[in-house]
Amino acid sequence: MSRPFQFMLSTTKLHLSLSLSFSLSLSLFSVSAINISSNLSSRKKMSSFDWVFLISTLLLLGPILTFSDSSSLSSDGLSEIPSNFLNFAKKSEVFDWMVSIRRKIHENPELGYEEFETSKLIRAELDNMGIPYKYPIAVTGVLGFIGSGKPPFVAIRADMDALPMQEMVEWEHKSKIPGKMHACGHDAHVSMLLGAAKVLQEHHELIQGTVVLVFQPAEEGGGGAKKMVEAGILENVEAIFGLHVAPEFPIGEVASRPGPLLAGSGFFEAVISGKGGHAAIPQHSIDPILAASNVIVSLQHLVSREADPLDSQVVTVAKFQGGGAFNVIPDSVTIGGTFRAFTKESFMQLKQRIEEVITGQAAVQRCNATVNFFAKEKPFFPATINEKGLHKHFRNVAGDMIGIVNTKDMQPLMGSEDFSFYQEMIPGYFFFLGMKDETNGKLPSVHSPYFRINEDALPYGAALHASLAVRYLLEFQPKVPLVNEKYHDEL
Ligand SMILES: *[C@@H]1O[C@H](CO)[C@@H](O)[C@H](O)[C@H]1NC(C)=O
Repeated sequence: MSRPFQFMLSTTKLHLSLSLSFSLSLSLFSVSAINISSNLSSRKKMSSFDWVFLISTLLLLGPILTFSDSSSLSSDGLSEIPSNFLNFAKKSEVFDWMVSIRRKIHENPELGYEEFETSKLIRAELDNMGIPYKYPIAVTGVLGFIGSGKPPFVAIRADMDALPMQEMVEWEHKSKIPGKMHACGHDAHVSMLLGAAKVLQEHHELIQGTVVLVFQPAEEGGGGAKKMVEAGILENVEAIFGLHVAPEFPIGEVASRPGPLLAGSGFFEAVISGKGGHAAIPQHSIDPILAASNVIVSLQHLVSREADPLDSQVVTVAKFQGGGAFNVIPDSVTIGGTFRAFTKESFMQLKQRIEEVITGQAAVQRCNATVNFFAKEKPFFPATINEKGLHKHFRNVAGDMIGIVNTKDMQPLMGSEDFSFYQEMIPGYFFFLGMKDETNGKLPSVHSPYFRINEDALPYGAALHASLAVRYLLEFQPKVPLVNEKYHDEL
């Protein structure tokens, strides 16, 4: 589980009064911010002019910061940010640009850790916007930075990979790669994070710290988030936000919940070996088809008889391969599937029992079995658990943008997300972005070969990313005093 929430609502320090003194301080601050950000890549070599400028700016700001009254934090100023950002993201030039990026990525889907062209496109757009970034991280990952280049840091994340499936939607921007498709909306996720970057760059004077843009590879089972974490991208980052498009929620709505949102997940595959032979002389064979069938039935008892009925879990066998003729008993059968649970204990218990049941039940039928959990290629995903303080933040920000009635609470789902690897390290928040618009017909579910994106959702995602980050930096202040501030190691 994530470490305790380390921030408190801002009650002292930087005040966003809309008074003259504030306007003055903000404009001064933004000048120094630009100055610093242009020096991001060579931060250690800031010229003495920069330092003098920064220090004198801070000195100038000092009295204003110290003496302004904490009640001058204008909640009106803050509450307008999300809707301003949405209006900006809806402007036709921004919207069309996001749509074109999404369609380009959709036409050229790339699987996990192969997102080379997608990553290149992202970097080209960041270059166009003058946003510094680090690359490569975890093969194709990109880490962008917007703001002062100084703490506090807050991260927003998108995944880049497609699925190994054939697109069945006939449209102008259909996947050009046979057998690969963006059927989970990651093309839209990338486009929305770039959209957020544009919103943030346009309003950089509001960024009280640094927003880290996380473009990660391989969400679909490859655990790209885990590799990004191992590369140190969360160093000194205070919180992280992520979203997923949702065909089942209406456009203009978002949904999430505090605490467990998505399950932890793992995969297994078992080879059950017997002895092949003529189907009419079973006594001379050891039938792995019958053994595998019994294994599958026995696996159903793990959830129905061994798990606490109030502790949601799933074991599904989704793969069964064996035999090829009506009259031949095969040598072996391969079965495979997935298992899900919300707590680490339940998850590890399931894993252990799956192995015991497969080998034990196979032995009953005189077969041998080996079980593979792919711990290396497909790391187990922890449960996606939303930090409670960030839930409040999300409701405030989304409520200000689309109205609190359109900011829904939802039940947990047994699906999973590798966003949970970030949440294991720092407070994180994941939510769903509605896309449903009945006038355009029913949207198929994610991972369907008929999956479609309602592109009208793009401005909402971009503006939410940007407002969650900006408002977080404005409203939450690290407890660590500024003198002890640490820099992001990536900078
Ligand atoms: C199972 O493994 C044992 C030990 O390796 C071997 O003697 C036996 O023949 C195997 N049985 C089958 C059905 O493969």
